[in-house]
Amino acid sequence: MINRQNPLSSTNLPSSDPSPLPPATILVVDDNSNNIQMLVDLLEGAGYRVAIAKSGEAALNLLKQSHPDLILLDVMMPGGMDGFETCQMIKANDATKQIPIIFTTVVSETLDKVRGLESGAVDYITKPFQQAEVLARIKVHLELYRLHQTLEQRVAERTATLNNALEALKQAQVQLIHTEKMSSLGLLIAGIAHEINNPINFIYNNVAPAHNYTSNLLKLVDLYRQALPDPPEAIAQHMQAMDLEFVRKDLPNVLHSMYLGTERIQSLVLSLRSFSRLDQDGRTAADIHEGLDNTLLILRHRIQASSYESNLQVVKDYGDLPLIHCYPSQLNQVFMNVLSNSLDALEEFAASESRSPRANWTPTVWIKTAIQTGDRIQITIADNGSGVPETIKPKIFDAFFTTKPIGKGTGLGLSICHQIIVEKHGGQLHCRSTDGERTEFVIELPRDGWGDCL
Ligand SMILES: Nc1ncnc2c1ncn2[C@@H]1O[C@H](COP(=O)(O)OP(=O)(O)OP(=O)(O)O)[C@@H](O)[C@H]1O
Ligand SMILES: [Mg+2]
Repeated sequence: MINRQNPLSSTNLPSSDPSPLPPATILVVDDNSNNIQMLVDLLEGAGYRVAIAKSGEAALNLLKQSHPDLILLDVMMPGGMDGFETCQMIKANDATKQIPIIFTTVVSETLDKVRGLESGAVDYITKPFQQAEVLARIKVHLELYRLHQTLEQRVAERTATLNNALEALKQAQVQLIHTEKMSSLGLLIAGIAHEINNPINFIYNNVAPAHNYTSNLLKLVDLYRQALPDPPEAIAQHMQAMDLEFVRKDLPNVLHSMYLGTERIQSLVLSLRSFSRLDQDGRTAADIHEGLDNTLLILRHRIQASSYESNLQVVKDYGDLPLIHCYPSQLNQVFMNVLSNSLDALEEFAASESRSPRANWTPTVWIKTAIQTGDRIQITIADNGSGVPETIKPKIFDAFFTTKPIGKGTGLGLSICHQIIVEKHGGQLHCRSTDGERTEFVIELPRDGWGDCL
């Protein structure tokens, strides 16, 4: 193989040179030195760079290192691969199949021309060469090749732009649904909390006076009984019928339990208000444990549900966390989604038949918080429910991915969590799960703010 001027070295090839329209490189594959000499003189004279291979094998070797813009390929090359085979090999290789190939064949070989075109060549030139024809055909095919490449590049660019736009649209859709869902949920919670707040305050504030009044009234009854040890028949009968002694003992208890009940409703209202945090827009220093506890309080009805067979345990292992700069209402949404998923998984596991291998199963949710090195905190929420199978693990953070029945899950929970933790807080959210064993969601947050990620 002769390689004039090292024409296909990577430094002077058009394919690796981004400057506009460098001289094209033509690879001449021919076993006949006279033909080669004639073509080289002609092509170099017309301003092309030329590489030479004296056999099909040599051409394929050369193409492993670099790519010409066009190949002139002799059909007949006795003693090795012929032109058709060489052409098929070039076309079978993804890296070289785009390079236009022009066969060179003697004028009588009509069958060869057809076979050549069928094996992937774009054109043929007959020998003896007509110089003007050779140059004209090469020029046309180089131009076509360049146009084809430009077109492909444009299509690739447009496709990439469209894909980006599609991705942005999807994100915007998720964000929109999220915002709508959260703001209406927040408003609803805040509204209910507000409506309950007034009447409950009314009852709460009246329990203490009611307690006073009743103890005074009971005292009065005692005084009457001392002054009138033998009451008239009607009064005696009524005292017996109402079981005055029992009422005297039980009334303070009744009032006390009313007091405790209203106190609990008041703290629930407070939790709902701080959960929705409508009164606190934006980023602020917040107590993560308060957020977790409020969420647990709101989920109490589910935690105490009887659908788990045995009692559900919540094991808390809170570390000594500082206040964290964050969007508290959004973090509460994350805790709500992750904990709800755990409760769903525990319920699902309790109802499933695959439960028998874990005979002494106690449905449990573990919540652990800790400070990490590198100014981060870690919140781990784990459960021993149904687990996340390996096959679906890569999809669980995708918007609209759900394994729950229609009407139960929208598949938005974890994608929203991911957005809140990663994009809004510069943190990380991972899932670790052993199928059918334990599932852990690990949330990592920067301790002291994270620049403005919005
Ligand atoms: N703790 C868990 N245990 C087992 N599987 C889980 C757990 N958490 C999430 N998954 C799986 O991840 C999927 C996606 O969860 P995601 O919260 O995004 O949606 P969802 O709970 O199905 O619906 P949504 O939260 O919108 O009501 C769930 O359908 C479930 O298959
Ligand atoms: Mg969910």
